[in-house]
Formats: sequence, structure tokens, C-alpha cells
Amino acid sequence: MRASPRRIRTATPKDIPQLQKLYRGVKEIIDYPGQKHDKRYFLAFMSPGRLLLVAEEKGKIAGAANGEIDFQTRFAFITNIVVAPSYRGQKVGSALMVGFAAEAKKRKCTVICGLVYDWNKPMHKIMHHLGYKPSGKTVLYTKKI
Ligand SMILES: CC(C)(COP(=O)(O)OP(=O)(O)OC[C@H]1O[C@@H](n2cnc3c(N)ncnc32)[C@H](O)[C@@H]1OP(=O)(O)O)[C@@H](O)C(=O)NCCC(=O)NCCS
Repeated sequence: MRASPRRIRTATPKDIPQLQKLYRGVKEIIDYPGQKHDKRYFLAFMSPGRLLLVAEEKGKIAGAANGEIDFQTRFAFITNIVVAPSYRGQKVGSALMVGFAAEAKKRKCTVICGLVYDWNKPMHKIMHHLGYKPSGKTVLYTKKI
């Protein structure tokens, strides 16, 4: 049987060098402490209650999505999703979102949510295509300190 050209799977520690390269190469994401440089960031998302998925294409990591699973409330929260610039527009991001939802469902989650900046047109498109709705209930407060 021919190997699938794209595979969505949970990440392993072996993926970390490629993940660091991927996250560093994406200018849109703000560097949460260590996110782009520290392998502990990625290791933390491989622990129970967290989820880190990668989209693999011919052995290369084209994108990744990481988030948290709250087993009590059954909420899954997408912290970040990233696709390498050269793979964008090929539904890698959509496939990661579908994969994330499937994994969350396996872990008995009933709701999946995530914050999207107002300027992020591609991400809003993905959310709408996949049936996500703006909650209208959340205001993100920020303060420069
Ligand atoms: C957002 C992101 C993950 C999307 O990944 P992707 O693999 O390109 O996504 P998809 O191909 O599944 O879908 C992207 C959609 O946006 C559209 N799109 C792409 N660039 C666009 C732009 N500049 N303006 C409007 N729409 C755009 C695509 O045409 C597609 O829509 P369609 O299905 O109607 O054709 C990717 O752009 C990325 O990594 N961005 C930087 C990190 C980021 O912003 N993450 C989200 C944090 S909430």
C-alpha cells in the first residue's frame, strides 16, 4: 500500500528540532516564553492533558498544532497552530484542526475552542469552513507591562 503523502500524528521528542525550526520561521506568532527556542515548551505539550500534533509530509514537518485538554470540563483549547510558509494554502492547517478535534473527541472532550486575532484571515477561514462559531462571549484584555 502506498504511504499517505500527509499524515497527522501526535508529536514525539524526535520531532523537536524540526518543531523549533518551524515555530522560529513563523513571524506571526508571538514568542511565549521559550516557545521558539526551548525544547521544554514542546516536551510540555507531549504530557497528559496536553496535545501536540504534527502534519508530516514525506518525513518533513509541514505544520503543527498544540493545545490543552481539560478532562474535568471536557474543553479542548487550541493554543497554537502553525504551518510552514512553503506549505500554506494546501489545507495543512485545516487537516491539523480536524486532527486536533478528533484527538480531543477521543479524550472525551465535548467542546473545542481557540482564540484567533481579528487580522488573521486564513485562520478565520479555516474556523468558518470547519463549523466553528464566534462565541461572542469572550473579550481578550491585555496590558503592556
Ligand atoms: C493560519 C495558518 C495555520 C493556515 O494554514 P494553511 O495550511 O495555509 O491553511 P489552509 O490551507 O487549511 O486554509 C487557509 C485558508 O485561508 C485562505 N488564505 C490564505 N492566505 C490568505 C490571505 N492572506 N487572506 C485571506 N485568506 C487567505 C486560503 O485560501 C484558505 O481558504 P480556502 O480554504 O477558502 O481556500 C497559517 O497561515 C499559519 O501558520 N499562520 C501563522 C501562524 C498563525 O497565525 N496561526 C494561527 C494562530 S490562531
